[in-house]
Order: sequence, then structure tokens, then C-alpha cells
Amino acid sequence: MQIAVVGSGYVGLVAGACFADLGHQVVLVDNDQEKVAALKRGEVPIHEKFLPELLERHRGRRLTFSDDLQAVVLASEAIFIAVGTPPTEQGRADLSYVESVASSIPGAMNGYKVIVEKSTVPVYTSEWIRRIIQRNAGALDSFDVASNPEFLREGTAVTDFLFPDRIVVGADNERCAAVLRAIYAPLVDGSYYERGDAVPRPDRAKVPPPLIISSTKSAELIKHASNAFLAMKISFINAVASICESVGADVHQVCQGIGSDSRIGPRFLNPGIGYGGSCFPKDLKAFREVARECGYDFRLLDDVMYINEEQRRRFLRKVHSALWTLRGKRLAVLGLAFKGGTDDVRESPAIMLVEELLQEGCRISAYDPAARERAREALSNKVDFAENPYDAANGADALLILTEWEEFATLDLERIQKALKYPIVIDGRNLYDPEVMAALGFTYHSIGRPAITPEGRSVRATAPRKEIDAV
Ligand code: UGA
Repeated sequence: MQIAVVGSGYVGLVAGACFADLGHQVVLVDNDQEKVAALKRGEVPIHEKFLPELLERHRGRRLTFSDDLQAVVLASEAIFIAVGTPPTEQGRADLSYVESVASSIPGAMNGYKVIVEKSTVPVYTSEWIRRIIQRNAGALDSFDVASNPEFLREGTAVTDFLFPDRIVVGADNERCAAVLRAIYAPLVDGSYYERGDAVPRPDRAKVPPPLIISSTKSAELIKHASNAFLAMKISFINAVASICESVGADVHQVCQGIGSDSRIGPRFLNPGIGYGGSCFPKDLKAFREVARECGYDFRLLDDVMYINEEQRRRFLRKVHSALWTLRGKRLAVLGLAFKGGTDDVRESPAIMLVEELLQEGCRISAYDPAARERAREALSNKVDFAENPYDAANGADALLILTEWEEFATLDLERIQKALKYPIVIDGRNLYDPEVMAALGFTYHSIGRPAITPEGRSVRATAPRKEIDAV
């Protein structure tokens, strides 16, 4: 199938490369000529496993790049819109890029085409796309608009795309659904997984994935509701973690207990410093606004967002309760990306915390395996960057773990202990066993578990409310 993917951001680039790997002929369109030129030269703009291999495999053959939207639409049967939908000041999704793409399509209509929303958009967007195209074109039966939300996570985007839990297709008639069925056929009929050159199957993946066909409106809602539900799970466990801290319980034991109920499940129950990234914060606000516009007051989402912000404040209080005053203290920070496995620092809770620590007068020496350059820019050069975790820890008053990078879970802790000025670790991602840390001589603070000293004594995890308010 001839496919156009408009927008070469995270979703567009990964979808384009994966469609090519499924055997389709794909043109990735972007109006940023420099981006297009860089992709043609073979540059890979994002840190994503398997993406360089797929781009290398298909570049110039099944995957080409262009800045000429009209020419590409003319030659395509399916046009995926994967442009950005950034938040407006009111928290709504800004759909002006989507509209601008939709209004350029009619000029290149030369037969039946399916226009597919891939970006995360509010319900009713497909109707607007349809209206915009009709306003500018006319021939009512020459196109359909479908919704095909994407559930990929940064860091595992390629395997999430090729080994999805499900494929959702919102299509309001069979002709349109048939085009999307054909596009995903190699995944749904399992033939892709039998190929010797297929991307390796992740442990948890169940193949072939089910294809869920729904109305376009339902598909649009599935995307927002999924992200809101996942964010709710994270805020829920973070709230439970706070109670664990107050009563001296262990949130991991609680997680195991509730996550073993198959109706709840163990995933997305890791407590931490709150969710971040380019999706959850934006999508929660947008979904809240969508609900408001539809006449429903979705207050649960306000609470999910409130708990998320509160989680950062609680962490900051932990730093205070471990170190007392912060002015002039030197802190080692491990992790600045919004989560492990990516160099993305958008809405990163780690960056927000570092900004607050800088405001309190701390000096920061940071290390991140991939996000150094992006973090340097985001923090306007106000922190020192170390080459490795041990250099970051050298002479620091305490070590803070802010991103769940796998490599942070396997540090040489004795070396870290020797490098630090005081052996204090404040772990925002619960990467270590408190008993092990105490045995190694650390005072160790984590989330939803009692803080512990080298003598094995539990210490109060957070400062009491009065002290907090005074901070
Ligand atoms: C998220 C969803 O997981 C994807 O399904 C969705 O397609 C994507 O948004 C999107 O809408 O494009 P992503 O933002 O890449 O993916 O990252 P996640 O792995 O979901 O993590 C989001 C944030 O939640 C991170 O800051 C992470 O550290 C945090 N998190 C995640 C927790 O604090 N605890 C958890 O148990 C899981």
C-alpha cells in the first residue's frame, strides 16, 4: 500500500519506519526542510531502540522523505496525520497543525483516500477533518476519515508498534475499515512475526494482536481514556505510597498484593516522583477540557493531576528532611529524562525538581545516560554535568535518583558510598532494597517505604506538616 505519514515527530517517524517494515511503500512528509534533509542524510533525530536499524533498512527504498505534502497525497491511498497537538494555555489540544494538513489534502484528491488521525486528538476531531476537507473539495465519496490511535511508549516505541497489545481502528464504514485492515494485515495475520528479519519479540508480547474496530469517535476516546487511566494508576499508587510513609508500611508489598488481582494488574503501579513526558500531562489536561466541553465535570482527573504535582513537592520535602537546609549544598542527581530509556526531557519531573533545588540555592552535579544535551538546554546550563554516576557523586552531600534508568539499578554502590561526602541517597524511583542500602552504610530515603539508616533504624520519611510549611 502507498502510505503518507505527515509529521516526522516521535509517532510519525516510528509509524513510518514500521509501516515500511511491514512491506508498505511509505513517504514521510514534514514541512521542516532541515528535518527532511537530515532524515535523507541518514540522521536519526530521537533515541529509540531499533529505529536506526529500521531507518537504515528502508531509507531510500520503502521509506522516503519529502516536504511536498500535495505531491505525496496525490500518490497515496492512506494519509496518516501524525503532527503535534501541543496544549494551549487553557489546556486544550491545539489542533491548528491538524487543520492545516487537512486543508491541504483536497487539492490532491485523485481517487478514494483514507485520512487517518494518528496524533492524539479530542473526540470530534475526525468530524472536523471531514468538514474541512468537504469545505475545500466536494466529492463526498472520494475520502473517509479514520482514527487509529497509537499506544507506543518512548524508549520502546518500535516494539510497542510492532507487538501491540491491540490495534484500534475507528472507521465509520466497511470501505474505510478495509484499508486499515490491509495496512495492519501482516501483524494481525501473524505473518510479520514469522519473518527471519522481524524486530525481536519482547518477552511480554502476545502475538498476533487483536484488531479492534470501533466508530471513529470511540477510537478517539479510547486514546484519551487509556492515557488518563494509566496516569490515574500512577497517581493512585503514589497516593497509597504517601499513606505507607505515614504508617510505616511498604508500598511494594501493597503493590504486590493489589497487583496480583488480575482485575487490577501489576503494571503502571510503580511509585515515584510523578509522571511526566509529552503525553500524560498534556493528554490529561486535554481530556479534562474535552469532558468540560461535553458537559461532564471530570473532577477525578483534577485529583490525578493534583496528586502528581504533590508527589514532587513531597520529594522535595524528603530532601529537606534528609539535609535540613539546602542553600550551598551540593547534590548529585542521577537522571534528568522524564523516564528511563529516552533522551526526552519534556515535562520531566526530574528537570522540575532540579529547577526547584537550584532555586533553593543547591549546586547540582548531574548525570543522565542520554538526556544530557536536552537537559543542558532545558536547565540553561545551570548544572554541572558529569561523565558518569561516580563523578556526579564525588564530594556531594547526597545522591538523588530521579529517573528509572536500568543502569542506575546496577551501580557499584560501594564506589558511590566512597565518592559521596555523606552517604545519603534519596531515591525517587525506588531502585534499591532499603536493607541492602543500610548494610552498605547509606541513609536511604525512598518512596512509600520507611527511610533507613546504616544502623538499620527506620527514620521518619517526611518532615511533619508544620516543618514543611515553614520550608
Ligand atoms: C505514554 C503511554 O504509556 C503510551 O501508551 C502512549 O502511547 C503515550 O504515552 C502517548 O500517548 O504517546 P510515554 O509518555 O512514552 O507513554 O511513557 P510511559 O512509559 O507511559 O511513562 C510516563 C510517565 O509515567 C513517566 O514519567 C514515567 O516515569 C511515569 N511512570 C510510569 C511512573 O511514575 N510509574 C509507572 O508505574 C509507570
